[in-house]
Amino acid sequence: WGATGHQVIGVLAEKQLGDKARIQVQRLLDLEPGSTLSSISTWADEHKNPTTARWHFLNFPRTSCSYGQSRDCPDGNCILGAIDRQVALLKSQAPQQAKLLALKYLIHFIGDLHQPLHLGYMDDKGGNLYQIQAYKKGSNLHSLWDSGLIRFISDDPQVWTDRLVHKPIPARVNLIDPVRVAEESCRIVATPGFYPDRKVGAAYVDRWTSVLEQQMVLAGARLARTLNGLWP
Ligand code: ADE
Ligand code: ZN
Ligand code: ZN
Repeated sequence: WGATGHQVIGVLAEKQLGDKARIQVQRLLDLEPGSTLSSISTWADEHKNPTTARWHFLNFPRTSCSYGQSRDCPDGNCILGAIDRQVALLKSQAPQQAKLLALKYLIHFIGDLHQPLHLGYMDDKGGNLYQIQAYKKGSNLHSLWDSGLIRFISDDPQVWTDRLVHKPIPARVNLIDPVRVAEESCRIVATPGFYPDRKVGAAYVDRWTSVLEQQMVLAGARLARTLNGLWP
């Protein structure tokens, strides 16, 4: 996701924290006064290097959305490996500064785990190589899902929070195992019609914006559940 997507997911998650998690998260955020789950949610995109860039996604083969570690993430440098490491660090006795860094990564990667094209296909780099035209402007499918569909409605996180905060949370929210979430995102990419005609118009936006909204709602809720699970 772009900044708006990540920030909205952070706000939604913050509202669903239990008391223990809220206190522990706030202790970490207090290391950088004024910071919030929303404000730190974009840190990982603003501090990418060639190694960490690979922690934001994972590619499935076109033939299967079933994760196999030896096939899909053999060296651990994918979004699932990265999530596992942040969770382990947050459960450990590591210093608070290290835990804050892990929190910055974790909230970002759980967001990205719900952007379907971060669990897309290798041959087109998760839609980055799939060129489209959206309302006369050139773009690509990955960018459309990171930020284009969001921008059609608004780039203001407050507008998006108001829009999503009262939406019902789908029952599958309780599936928080990152592997299962990754497979769920891949299956969205594999749905007929997900790859549009090269010219994207209102029909595509109408069909898929509700899916995008569900993914953001699920991301916020599952992020909160994950943090609540770290501090039960
Ligand atoms: N960003 C850069 N490469 C990517 C890929 N293969 N899949 C998803 N996101 C990416
Ligand atoms: Zn992206
Ligand atoms: Zn990212």
